[in-house]
Amino acid sequence: MDDLKQATYQRWLEGQLATRDLAMERSEIVSQFVSTFPEASLPDIKVIDDEIRSALYKTHKRFEIDDFILCKCKKVTQNTIKKNLERAKTLDELKLCTTAGTGCGKCIPDLESLLAGIKPKALRWHGEAHSVWGERVQASLDLWNKRISKYPPLKVKRFDQGQVVMQVEGSLTSDQEWDLSMELSDYLAEGFPEPLVVFLDFAHS
Ligand code: FES
Repeated sequence: MDDLKQATYQRWLEGQLATRDLAMERSEIVSQFVSTFPEASLPDIKVIDDEIRSALYKTHKRFEIDDFILCKCKKVTQNTIKKNLERAKTLDELKLCTTAGTGCGKCIPDLESLLAGIKPKALRWHGEAHSVWGERVQASLDLWNKRISKYPPLKVKRFDQGQVVMQVEGSLTSDQEWDLSMELSDYLAEGFPEPLVVFLDFAHS
């Protein structure tokens, strides 16, 4: 059901984006999204356009980040984990009572941080575990790849605390590499809460 809702939102947004002036109409699209889908909540908007999502975060209370899915495999939120910290004192107990951390295991460092009473480092990134931000950078690049055909496709190779290594799937002249870096920085500056440090990794190097 959630997948269906998400697909509906995404289709709606793609329809809007296809027919409007991207630079001018973002705020209007955001307002219409909120009134068209009064039931939409934060987890529903994970994969939609980055600029729209960040406008939703900024302007609409409903989308304020006070909770988020920390364990993506098991869809367990940070709040659920926090509620269980009273009775789960070890990682194994926490896994047992929440199922978090029992899939790919990428969220385990965040679970351990919560158990240790430390705010997970990734929270710096707008309240999301950093594995989620890596995926968001990739979602953003997917849009870039669709819209910008003058450069080879880009893919996230590594993301860690705001530093992202992007694989450039092809080769460019040094002038083109420079232009790509500039354009990419501008493109990414809007959609993310903190500056991203981008390293380009060219297939030929
Ligand atoms: S993200 Fe938690 S187990 Fe995969």
